[in-house]
Parts: sequence; structure tokens; C-alpha cells
Amino acid sequence: MGRQDSIKRTQPRFEDGYFVPSVPVPDPRNSEDYKWYDGFMTIPKIVNNPLESFNHSQYKDPISQFKIFAGQFTVINDPRAIKHCFVDNRDNYTFSTVRQRVLRAILGDGLITAEGEKWRHARHAMSPMFTPRNVTAFAAMMKSTTEREMSKLLKVGEITKMSSSMSALTYLVLSDTLFSGDIDRDKHQVLADVSTALTYVGRLDPLDLLNAPAWLPRLTRLRGLKSVANLRAMIGQVIKKRKAEKQVGLGAPDDFMNRLLEVGDEETRAFTDVEIEDHLLSFIGAGHETTARALSWLFYLLSQDTKSRDRFEVEVDALDTENIPPETWGDYLPFAMACFEETMRLFPPAPMIAREAIDGDAIGDIITPAGSILFLNTWLLHRHHTLWEAPDAFRPDRFMGDARNDIDRFQYLPFGVGARVCIGQRFAMQEAAILMALLAKKYRFDYAANEVPWPKMRITVQAENGMPMTVMRRSK
Ligand code: HEM
Repeated sequence: MGRQDSIKRTQPRFEDGYFVPSVPVPDPRNSEDYKWYDGFMTIPKIVNNPLESFNHSQYKDPISQFKIFAGQFTVINDPRAIKHCFVDNRDNYTFSTVRQRVLRAILGDGLITAEGEKWRHARHAMSPMFTPRNVTAFAAMMKSTTEREMSKLLKVGEITKMSSSMSALTYLVLSDTLFSGDIDRDKHQVLADVSTALTYVGRLDPLDLLNAPAWLPRLTRLRGLKSVANLRAMIGQVIKKRKAEKQVGLGAPDDFMNRLLEVGDEETRAFTDVEIEDHLLSFIGAGHETTARALSWLFYLLSQDTKSRDRFEVEVDALDTENIPPETWGDYLPFAMACFEETMRLFPPAPMIAREAIDGDAIGDIITPAGSILFLNTWLLHRHHTLWEAPDAFRPDRFMGDARNDIDRFQYLPFGVGARVCIGQRFAMQEAAILMALLAKKYRFDYAANEVPWPKMRITVQAENGMPMTVMRRSK
């Protein structure tokens, strides 16, 4: 019996003409019915795939609470509660100890993990690099990298693992736009290291959940740490090279990397070398896999819902990609953008947004004790039965025209919310528009496996089988 046979999952199907992909069947009990040992029994599922650990009430209740030993957890799916915890009373919620333990082992004090003054300083220094004007300046490069690389990555008539092809493509876009190509000298090795690091280091270890001390080695992570060391060595060399070039007066490219090296004036202190290394690793970690995951799920959903795929293709075919500036393509592709947003609703690339309460707090009549963990899990939020009609169905029209205005600001949060909202949001949406247009004009992808692509959450939500798809040519 294969692993998939032992998991309870819904059948992929059409309902009222809309495609409904296969997902884990939630535990039928309510959170209140859990006995003390149930939390413990859930640990293997949380470690292997948190998406299989949810229960039925978590898709229905605005807030649910449960305990694992002494740990208290609160899952919030109510837009007002989210606003309370992430905006109005956000100073009371810090990153959870478990999250920080997992991520800091890799990223040190990079933008994703830094807190307090270190984070404020970095975010303040980097925000101007992601203003609309600066992001639109990357569009031409996003286009040329995709045009250069797509036919190398996608072979017509062959089956490709979309997860790796899309990761490679978005990595190269990130490398060209933010680092002027300096982080892909040894492309295959770097891509393998990034993938291994994200797979193994992003894994929760049972010892984390049991709050074991940091010095106890997490065996699940050892393989990943070697790859992290390789990436750090590569980044260290690039920093050295850039500094040396500057010393001898060689003109350096005006990219993100150089801007980080140049931070520092009377108001803002310069970054240390270690900080720059941590930040660069953070951007490599956060800046491509998420977009790649969304694109792979998108092409899977379109391959099943061929009516939407036809509409999508008509729209991209009508776009004159030779003459219209790429930074505006999103405006010409309302349906494609709606498909992308709907994909991130069903398969949020980074679904686990966790915080820890510093002091006790009251969210309405629910109490979050000091030290307890708060989960904003966008997988649950985006499929919540009280917030969405036909929550499990792929219906891009929810994001079209006036229907988009009915979605509450705190109900759809693929990029997070509050002070730590994704700094790369605009970059990602622009990149998605450009990649979707170029890929769908040239290729069509058909899902090429018998089993369903099983959603598995590590840091991102990925297809367990790597999403095999047959590549077909649409145009030269
Ligand atoms: C579809 C693509 C993306 C998704 C769904 C996504 C999602 C997220 C989410 C949910 C967070 C907040 C995490 C939290 O509050 O705990 C976040 C933060 C972050 N993202 Fe993204 N992201 C995407 C693309 C990008 C890109 C392209 C970049 C860089 C170019 C990027 C860089 C970052 C960084 C550096 C942070 C940390 C920000 C901070 O804490 O100040 N992301 N992202």
C-alpha cells in the first residue's frame, strides 16, 4: 500500500462546474473533544505534513484552541481577530520560539528572522528598494531571463517536474534582478543546495514541538545544514568579490546586493558582513520558492479545469508581449491574475504564520495566555467555511471585478499582514504576470501522473510528487 492510500483524502472532482482538487480529510472531531494525549498523537502528522493534522472545527470556528502537553495553541481564522493580533495589538505578539529556532539555524538575523532594533533597521534600509518604481525597473530583466531560460528548462514532448523547473526559473529571475547574476555561477549545485536546505531545514523536528533545548541535535535537519553551509560560502565569496571590485574602482551594478553593501549614513548604520550574508540568504530562501510553488499549482489547476485554461490562453494570446512594457502586463491579464490569486488562496505558498503572545491577551472572550502560540494558518483561513462560498473549489472569478471587493482585507492573506508583511509582494505579483504570460503563450502543460499531486507543507506548500507535467508547444 502506497503512502497516499493510507491518507484520508477527498477525490478531485467537479462541483457545479468548478474543479475541486484533492485535499486531506480533516479529523472529524472538534478541538474541544481532544483528550490530553491527542495532541501528542498529532505530533507525527504535524512533523510529516501539518496539512493532515487539522480537524473539522478548525475550518468552521472563528477561533479554536488546543493543548500539546503544557503548550497552549490558538488558531485564528476570524478577520477581526487577525486585525487585533497583527495590527492593533501587534506589539504583544512576537515570532514563536519554535519558528525562530528552526529558521535562525539557517538564516541567522536575516530580514525574515531578525527582531526588535535589528529588524527595524534592516526593514527601514530595504523598503525603498521595493517601492513600485524600483520593482517596475526589474520587469525587463524578468522578461529577458524567462525568455532565455524557459526553453532550456522545459523540453517539448517531455515530462518535467514543474516544482523544480519553476524553482529554477524563479531562482534565475531572482539572481538576475537582485544580484546581477552573481549567485548562479554554479547553477546546478546552487539549485540543489537551495532545494535541500528548504526541504530538510524547513522541517519541524519532534524535539522542537516538545521544546527540547537547542543543543540537542535535530537529526531531521543535518542534511540541510551542509547545503546551508555551501550557500553561505557562495554568498561570502560574492560579497568579497563585490567589495574587491569596489576597492579597485570597478563599476559595480546598481542592484539589491550593492545597495545593501552601500547602506550607511548619519541616520542608518551600515550592515556588518555577517548581516549582509544573513539578509542575502533570507532573500534566496524567501524570494523564489514561494512564487515557484504558486506557479506549479496554477498550471496543475488549469490542466484540470480546461475551460479556465482556454480563457487564460485567449487572454495571454491577446497580449502583445513584444511591444507592451512588461511591468504593465498584469493590467492586461485580469483573468490570469485572478487565477494566480485563486491558486494562492487554495495553495498558499507560505501558509504558516505563527506568533507567540508576550503577555496574556483577550481576543473577544478568548484568552491567549502569555507564552502561548498563535497560528494564522492561511491554508485554514483561505478554506474557511464561514468566509468563502464553495471554499475548496477553484473559482478564479471571485478575484475578478467587483467580486474582489467582497473579500475582506484580513480574509485573504497569502503575503501575511501587519509589520512583517512580505516585502517582496509587488515583486512576486509582477514576476507572476510576466512568467505566466511568457510560459502560457508558448507552452501548455498537462498533468502526467496517476496519483493526485499531494499537498505537503514544509515551509511552503509543495506537491509531494514534484508535479510531473507534460510540456506541449503552443507557439514558436
Ligand atoms: C508568491 C510569492 C510570495 C509569497 C506567497 C510570500 C509570502 C510571505 C509571507 C506570508 C511572509 C510573512 C511571514 C510572517 O509574517 O511570518 C513573507 C515575508 C517575507 N517575504 Fe515573501 N512571499 C513571496 C515572495 C517573496 C519575494 C519574491 C521576496 C523577495 C524578493 C520575498 C521576501 C520576503 C521577505 C524578506 C520576508 C520577511 C519580511 C519581514 O519580516 O520584514 N517574498 N512572505
